[in-house]
Amino acid sequence: MSNNKIVFEQAVTTLDHERWDTDGQDAPLALEALEEGKILFFPHLSFTLTADELTLLDPKLVDPKRKNISFQPLKNRLTGVALTERLPAIRQLLERYYQDSCRLIEAILPFYRQTLHSPTDTLRLHPITAWKNTTSWRKDDSRLHVDAFPSRPTRGQRILRIFTNINPNGENRSWRVGEPFPQLAQRFLPNLGGYSPLKSWLLDKIGITKTRRSPYDQLMLQLHDAMKADRDYQQYGPQLAVEFPPGSSWICFSDQTPHAAMNGQFMLEQTFLLPPDAMKNPRHAPVKVLESLLHKPLI
Ligand code: SIN
Ligand code: FE
Repeated sequence: MSNNKIVFEQAVTTLDHERWDTDGQDAPLALEALEEGKILFFPHLSFTLTADELTLLDPKLVDPKRKNISFQPLKNRLTGVALTERLPAIRQLLERYYQDSCRLIEAILPFYRQTLHSPTDTLRLHPITAWKNTTSWRKDDSRLHVDAFPSRPTRGQRILRIFTNINPNGENRSWRVGEPFPQLAQRFLPNLGGYSPLKSWLLDKIGITKTRRSPYDQLMLQLHDAMKADRDYQQYGPQLAVEFPPGSSWICFSDQTPHAAMNGQFMLEQTFLLPPDAMKNPRHAPVKVLESLLHKPLI
């Protein structure tokens, strides 16, 4: 396939910040790059763990039925912890990461300050290799994909994610990142199925989804699956390897930027949702891109 090279500067914007509450001089540039689907990479933005918190870096702390430990700070709801005696320390760590993430948004993406909502953060303790080889292809995040939640339809809302590599042994988080969303959508749209209102109604009725999937949600799940199922695309499609060393952080819209996690262990991740109309340039939102390609509303 020709044109399958992605240049680092096209996919990643590097920012020098060393503090979560640093001032916002780069804000306009960062906002534009992020909305275009680039990753904002902060090589020197670390999250320091206390000596006690370092003892939390142990996969045995995760409930074997779950992939990660997750925390909804506004509901004070912590799930996925196997050892109850470590609950307070984990809660404190995830609350602290949430607070720092909010400071970073204030500093670097103040445009979203009022409109980001539904925060959830996760503590990811398993080595990527643990799930790469054992899960079904659909859940295998070492295949290039864009994020779409099977049980939590977003109805076009954006998925903004902040990540920090907290590996204490010098191991990078290694990703592959893919092509711009409009190019991705044009590549896969012709092969995606149609919308089934009946399926969407049924999944909601029997409680598989939290609300009814819109045509957008069904399309994004189909896109997610079509990407992961396509061996040729995985191997030869446009992509670039990107390394995130310990002590670095990065931000992207994970519903827009194709990504695959190839290697690494121990990471913090903060998710927010954002209505597309709260973007500076809503036309970059996947829902708007898909609607303009299909000439019909999807919500
Ligand atoms: C993903 O969001 O697909 C996984 C990212 C990671 O665990 O590094
Ligand atoms: Fe993902």
